[in-house]
Amino acid sequence: MLSWDDFDAAEETQQQSKPAPQAPPKPEPKAAVKEPAASYDSAPAEAAAKSDHANTSTGKESDAVAEARESLEHLDVAPGLEELEMGASRIEVDDKRMINCRADLNQLVPFKYDWAWQKYLDGCANHWMPQEVNMTADIALWKSRDGLTEDERRIVKRSLGYFSTADSLVANNLVLAIYRLITNPECRQYILRQAFEEAIHTHAYQYCIESLSMDEAEIFNMYRELPSVAAKAAWSLKHTQTLGDPTFNTGTPETDQELLRNLVAFYAVTEGIFFYCGFSQILSMGRRNKMTGVAEQFQYILRDESMHLNFGIDVINQIKLENPNLWTPEFQKEVTQMVLEGTELEIAYARDSMPRGVLGMNAGMMEEYLHFIANRRLAQLGLKEQYPGAQNPFPWMSEIMDLRKEKNFFETRVTEYQVGGALSWD
Ligand SMILES: [Fe+2]
Ligand SMILES: [Fe+2]
Repeated sequence: MLSWDDFDAAEETQQQSKPAPQAPPKPEPKAAVKEPAASYDSAPAEAAAKSDHANTSTGKESDAVAEARESLEHLDVAPGLEELEMGASRIEVDDKRMINCRADLNQLVPFKYDWAWQKYLDGCANHWMPQEVNMTADIALWKSRDGLTEDERRIVKRSLGYFSTADSLVANNLVLAIYRLITNPECRQYILRQAFEEAIHTHAYQYCIESLSMDEAEIFNMYRELPSVAAKAAWSLKHTQTLGDPTFNTGTPETDQELLRNLVAFYAVTEGIFFYCGFSQILSMGRRNKMTGVAEQFQYILRDESMHLNFGIDVINQIKLENPNLWTPEFQKEVTQMVLEGTELEIAYARDSMPRGVLGMNAGMMEEYLHFIANRRLAQLGLKEQYPGAQNPFPWMSEIMDLRKEKNFFETRVTEYQVGGALSWD
């Protein structure tokens, strides 16, 4: 076991053997005696006999060090991904903006958007890992001949098929499209946290698929091979294309609206609608004491996802507030249309994944639920509800989502779990 003493000793040794990269340009002979590796002009042969490091003390290295110093002399002190203005006045809260901000993005504080920082803190407080969930009962049930009906098995496969790639689509969109265009450090801090959570979600799905010994190729290719799954993935992918181009930039009303389209497509529709049929099906299964490990994973994911959704809605509304010119009547109509398209695709997925009544639900009830969800998304975006009077036939979903798990999350965690390598499924 390492102790701080070991650490200090190791650091000391390292310090002594360093070739003194920060030495002044003209090496002092005394320093060269203390640190043979740092000698630039003493006889290399003599040093080689005394030190293991001496073989690096050659004329060639001297050239390299000189080159490094030369390079540093010409260091541009204000380069980087975003422009820095050296000596500019210090950042004021009012300089900060969600998009097209010209203030320094490397400084987290002072905070302007406390809600973003709070979500980052909440996300960290809810940290979990897939291996902490006990999958033993699921493995036994999945392997048993009459443990699940064919309709129930279909739901498990469809859900893992859609989600195993959907979270990668979301993560890639975050990192490769949205991140650089959201010009606010506290929002970026949350996006980094969200990106890691998406990685955990993909890990969770992979962990379920591996635990159940499913045909990985069948499940992971579903988003390209199974029409109801492929249609949802294709719809999301369509909205990441323009922003994924590294030369794309915001700054005109058209390009700013394009960013908003992406945010609506991913936060409000993909994470806000496309996840809800699968989540409610799997959680309903868990409530019936079936596939409880998979259901527990989905429950933690749903809790993360509801925060992603809320963050996205806050981002969209903040951009609207700061750029009211973007939220034209035509654009509002277009966003409404996007939410309705997403709802239709999710209803088609519900019909395909649930050809008959199963787990106390059926496609008709799911349609009603999705209308209810779509109304909620439209209202969150400040738009008119499109399905008047739609009711929630699954009130227990809201209970699961609204559960403030931060406090009791760790208490309810399964303590007796197996790590992936220790799982056995024969
Ligand atoms: Fe996710
Ligand atoms: Fe998400």
